[in-house]
Amino acid sequence: MNEIKLDKKVNFDNIKDKVRVFAPATVANMICGFDILGFAVNEPGDEVKMYRVAEPGVRIRSIAGDDGRLPLDADRNTVSACVKMLLSDLGVADTIGVEIELIKHMPIGSGLGSSSASTVAGLYAINALLGAPLTKEELMPYCVEGERLACGHGHADNVAPALMGGVTLIRGQEALDIVKLPVPGELYAGIVFPQVDVPTRDARQLIKDKVLLKDAVVQWGNIAGLIAGLFQNDYDLIGRSMQDVLIEPTRAILIPEFYEMKRIALECGALSFGISGSGPSVVAISRGADIARVATAKIKEHLSSKEIDSYQYVSAVNVEGPRLLDFDA
Ligand code: HSE
Repeated sequence: MNEIKLDKKVNFDNIKDKVRVFAPATVANMICGFDILGFAVNEPGDEVKMYRVAEPGVRIRSIAGDDGRLPLDADRNTVSACVKMLLSDLGVADTIGVEIELIKHMPIGSGLGSSSASTVAGLYAINALLGAPLTKEELMPYCVEGERLACGHGHADNVAPALMGGVTLIRGQEALDIVKLPVPGELYAGIVFPQVDVPTRDARQLIKDKVLLKDAVVQWGNIAGLIAGLFQNDYDLIGRSMQDVLIEPTRAILIPEFYEMKRIALECGALSFGISGSGPSVVAISRGADIARVATAKIKEHLSSKEIDSYQYVSAVNVEGPRLLDFDA
């Protein structure tokens, strides 16, 4: 874990009774930037309701939308474990009591940063409940630790965009160095989640740990081209740069109908198409919502014809990250 040096005090006058937070799903890798790029979307996302209670400690009241897959034990649940860690580093673990309701609005193991959205929602919520003693930058190492607890690897390409919003570059993983990149206003993601389970751990184990120099040259050309395209608002450059010659050829075999879905998306006018995170969700990157909508609808139709159920989401890039929601709305 990145060493966390926290020199913050909680002002007990600022503590709230309860907060409700939404944190967004994310598309890690952004097709060509394995483990270093990612962006947030407006939907789906997860929600945390957090209540201050008299008895010190952190407890999970309930989890909805997980089909019973996530632990209610506060030491084993990633969200509560991260909240406990933060309270402990703030020196208030023995004095503050909180209870958590986690509401999952997205599938687990979808490649949409499901665990990251929950972790970020939980950490943003405890910080808000305590009167926001930490900046987002200070919350980031706790989010990365949550990712490590959830999937055994502390890659930040889901938690960084989920917390910071927009498109993020993880320039350094060991010593965290996160760079926010510009977001062209018409950039949309058409996401399709085919209902097959691809755990991140399995999808990572498949990948070879050596690459050919000629492939690496193509890939870093693409990453550099994508970054330039984001700065220049150049959708054609973004599209032709979002190509993955390193990871996609291996992971695509885990995703049924991958190449047919790609053909459909590109035929509909998508700028690019690829795997979201470690899959099985796929993403059609589009200029404007219309192309993304048509591409996801046609892909869904194709999957149905093969008797594969799917969810679809169409979203602009989410630029704000987590947000406070009205508690009673
Ligand atoms: N960069 C990670 C991977 C993201 O592709 O394995 C996991 O969601």
